[in-house]
Amino acid sequence: MEDIIKEVLVTEEEIIKRAKELGAEITRDYRDKDLMIIGILKGAVIFMSELVRNIDMSVTIDFMGVSSYGKSAISTGEVKIIKDLDFSVIGKDVLIVEDIIDTGYTLNYLTDNLKKRGANSVKICTLLDKPERRKVDVPVNYLGFEIPDEFVVGWGLDYAEQYRNLPFVAALKEEVYNRG
Ligand code: XMP
Ligand code: MG
Repeated sequence: MEDIIKEVLVTEEEIIKRAKELGAEITRDYRDKDLMIIGILKGAVIFMSELVRNIDMSVTIDFMGVSSYGKSAISTGEVKIIKDLDFSVIGKDVLIVEDIIDTGYTLNYLTDNLKKRGANSVKICTLLDKPERRKVDVPVNYLGFEIPDEFVVGWGLDYAEQYRNLPFVAALKEEVYNRG
């Protein structure tokens, strides 16, 4: 698969170490709270599984699926819920886990949506952030790594549903997504 990779931006060792630190921080911050962790399908799943094993308290876990870029690398700003939660968020302290924040549209919408549905608090934990690309301001409470404006794959992130299983985060060669 090396032929599709331009550059490795974050290694597996770095992510595992950061997930430990974030897990410890979250455990401290939510010690007396009713923490519900919501993973955004499908990109967040791999990072989330690393993160939650480093959270040393009782939590509940749920998932939401939202419309994504699909095959295109450009965000439209439209967010649609494809798979909704199994459980109610009323009174819960919600931590949304995402793979990456780009324009911020997705997390801006979801934060609002979950607050309207009665969550007690809504915070965000993301593996990656591309701050240069932000269109709407979203507070990132727990951040893995800031990365430059490159399309990346691995650790859950895909291009056309591929490469989620790469054990590192890497920038794709431009020729891969220009092939269509
Ligand atoms: P917004 O723009 O709403 O986007 O903050 C968040 C969603 O966009 C996807 N995204 C990417 N997916 N490599 C990917 O595989 C990338 O470099 C990338 N940038 C944004 C991602 O699905 C995220 O949930
Ligand atoms: Mg995606």
